[in-house]
Amino acid sequence: MPPPVIDQSRTAPGSITHRPLAGQSKVRQKIEPKFNLLDFARQTMKTPGSIGAIAPSSKYVANSVMSLANLDNAKTVVELGPGTGVFTEQIIKKIGSDTTFFALELNKVFVQATKDRCPQAEVYHDTAQSIRHYLNKHEADHCDCIVSSLPWTIFDPEDQNILLETLSSVLAPGGSFVSIVYLGAKTRRRGRHFIDSLPTHFNTVYKTKTVWKNMPPTQIYRCGN
Ligand SMILES: C[S@@+](CC[C@H](N)C(=O)[O-])C[C@H]1O[C@@H](n2cnc3c(N)ncnc32)[C@H](O)[C@@H]1O
Repeated sequence: MPPPVIDQSRTAPGSITHRPLAGQSKVRQKIEPKFNLLDFARQTMKTPGSIGAIAPSSKYVANSVMSLANLDNAKTVVELGPGTGVFTEQIIKKIGSDTTFFALELNKVFVQATKDRCPQAEVYHDTAQSIRHYLNKHEADHCDCIVSSLPWTIFDPEDQNILLETLSSVLAPGGSFVSIVYLGAKTRRRGRHFIDSLPTHFNTVYKTKTVWKNMPPTQIYRCGN
């Protein structure tokens, strides 16, 4: 029997609360100097089936992700789909000097963008599905935290199942899988499949309120074993 999803957007407000802005057009995002918004959009247009966003995540989403990821005591951390390194930059600041950290990114241009932004980060040009291979390369079997901004809603349901099963199996007991999901994902078949599958793969599922200051607005899911 899958565990219930703790839906923070419907229950009592917690520490992670985000109120809608009066006008979404006023949303401003800090854009990293080397890789601007236009470059990001260009990559999205070049590879429409693999990025799933028109802009990098905002600092508000990054803050919410970091507050859920519990990185302080993590010994092994993996990021999936770092894009231009918005989360990578924060992860590097949070983890300890002895923490194993690497990222897997499918897009070669984004691999370079993340390396430019975070020279100390280990960023591999490979698919998230190869996570076990890279954990073994780093002499680890499991990881304490997986931070994902993968475009789940464009993945085929069967591929979602395979990847979720892999991620669940490499997550250490007590570890967290933290993933952003754009608002409206539930209106799409593949988005629904992803969200509805989470309790099948993880013992606990928690979601935040919507972070409105992002293009598009986003919720963050934290799943654990
Ligand atoms: C929505 S973007 C998020 C980028 C960045 N983390 C952010 O929040 O601004 C999704 C990222 O996942 C990458 N990606 C897509 N499929 C992937 C896969 N199978 N393995 C690794 N990365 C993947 C894309 O290239 C892209 O950089």
